Amino acid sequence: MSGSGGRIPDSFIQSLLSKTDIVSVIQESVKLKKNGSNYSACCPFHQEKTPSFTVSPTKQFYHCFGCGMHGDVIRFLMDYQSLSFVDAVERLAGRIGLTVPKDPLEAAKAQVKLTTTMVLNRCAAFYAEKLKHHPEAKTAVAYLKKRGLTGKVAKQFQIGFAPSGWDNLLSFFQGDNGALKILEETGLIIKHPQGRFYDRFRERIMFPIRDRRGEVIGFGARVMDKSQPKYLNSPESSVFQKGHCMYGLYEALHSKQKWQTAIVVEGYLDVVALVQMGVTGVVATLGTAITTHHLSALFNLVDELVFCFDGDKAGQGAAWKALQLVLSFLTENRQVRFVFLPPGEDPDSYIRQYGAASFKSLINNGTSLSAYFFATLCEQIVPDSVDSRAHLASVARSMIERIPQGIFKEMMFEQLAKLVASTPQVVRGGKAFRSYYSPKGQTKIKVAPPPKPMETAYIASALLLRNPDLYGAWEGRSVFPSQIEAPGMEVFYQLMTLLNANLSAVQLREKLHEAGFELKRLVESEAKIALLPETGLEAEFIGALARLEVVGREQIAEKLLLKAKNMALTEEEKQKLKEFLQSRESNNSV
Ligand code: CTP
Ligand code: MN
Repeated sequence: MSGSGGRIPDSFIQSLLSKTDIVSVIQESVKLKKNGSNYSACCPFHQEKTPSFTVSPTKQFYHCFGCGMHGDVIRFLMDYQSLSFVDAVERLAGRIGLTVPKDPLEAAKAQVKLTTTMVLNRCAAFYAEKLKHHPEAKTAVAYLKKRGLTGKVAKQFQIGFAPSGWDNLLSFFQGDNGALKILEETGLIIKHPQGRFYDRFRERIMFPIRDRRGEVIGFGARVMDKSQPKYLNSPESSVFQKGHCMYGLYEALHSKQKWQTAIVVEGYLDVVALVQMGVTGVVATLGTAITTHHLSALFNLVDELVFCFDGDKAGQGAAWKALQLVLSFLTENRQVRFVFLPPGEDPDSYIRQYGAASFKSLINNGTSLSAYFFATLCEQIVPDSVDSRAHLASVARSMIERIPQGIFKEMMFEQLAKLVASTPQVVRGGKAFRSYYSPKGQTKIKVAPPPKPMETAYIASALLLRNPDLYGAWEGRSVFPSQIEAPGMEVFYQLMTLLNANLSAVQLREKLHEAGFELKRLVESEAKIALLPETGLEAEFIGALARLEVVGREQIAEKLLLKAKNMALTEEEKQKLKEFLQSRESNNSV
């Protein structure tokens, strides 16, 4: 550090930035190539073959699309030459012959962030040193050996050891009040209610968590026996936000091998084991669910993502959650797969038992997102009736809609259509919007077009024939059967009327025949519902009625809209129209 004792006024920094050209500064250490209005180069912060590092002379900013490093010229010097903020400013000022003025009052503040990671880096070094030289380290080393870790991988991840005792870290930083404050803020020491501080981490294996630049921002810490809790983690702090960082990302970014697939696992030890066995691009969330920050960070690096969670219930839940979040990232150049390990295994245990080749083949042959998506939905909603298929379609639709426009989305709708024995147009439902004008002609309302009636009325009729007791289920609906125009609706209406006469199914069919109805489609529908169990009939019938009701409401709304073009609607009609239009979007049933 230089002898700078004070905060540099913002105005000086602004004027310094305006007098400095980022391109010429970066060019002193990186070979830049002009590329349109920007400059590009292979990134100096991570290893790569094709340039993803760009410098913008207009914005005076650099950005690497590969590793995400970005900032202004000061940040560049800090990162590239490992300078402190003040030193970077002094270096830049020196280039153009300026001296840096100082405001001693705010000295500390300007450097908080930097010093925090500096203190945490020292903690990591402290724990790593204890793993080597502390008298108690034998147990720790034995534990790591038992888990199969090599010294090399332990060093690569800077794994350490927190010995027993309440004040190891505390005494190490004794007298350095600035550091102690940071230890408190980052949770490495805890204040006892009686005022004294003590070390948070004791008798544990320490896993430093690093940001992209390799700065330590927190720790995960595991016990070496069966005691609880198995892991203790640093609490969130100004430098540590679990939803933003991933364990293993720094090591992955700086690994010598290139990787095109990011593998997301659950545990610290999964990351370490896979990396040790030669798998690259492995990251873990920090004991929390995956977030969109994690996903966008990974998709900025690669187009292929594999989720490999433990083969237990929690792992399954994590996978389904991840699927839901990842949908909105699925442009067609991107691929997502899911690997489900055998029950009781995690990536660490699997690769140690079956070897790297077997694990890599699992990763390459993971379940595609679409296969996992439809299989899971079908488990939750078994598509064994018209009603459940409609339900399945609407649940699936709401999820598929999160996928960005493109071929992949279209293909998902096509697959859904096949699954529920319908067409892509129908399963898309609310997709193709059309504008209507409200009766007053002022507000434009966007609504889904009316659903197609299909064969619902025949199904409903067949159900009634099979169990005439279902008849009462129409009661309380907002439209009368006579108001609905749909194929088979006349048969259905006739049946409803006849049922008032308390006839048997055989008699009902005769009556329909006498009345001159063509019964071919009714008979087909009867065959379709023949396999439904007795207990499912009522739900099926109610589902069919609900769909008919939607059709009826749509038709009434259409008629009222048409009427409103030529004459005024009554208050009652206006009310009805408003209600029916509002329910359209939520009711776009199959
Ligand atoms: N975790 C945690 N606190 C716990 C348990 C788990 O923070 N009490 C987080 C840790 O990040 C851990 C991850 O969840 O790495 C996965 O947990 P688990 O599968 O139980 O642990 P592993 O990492 O597999 O560790 P081990 O193999 O030693 O059991
Ligand atoms: Mn494990």
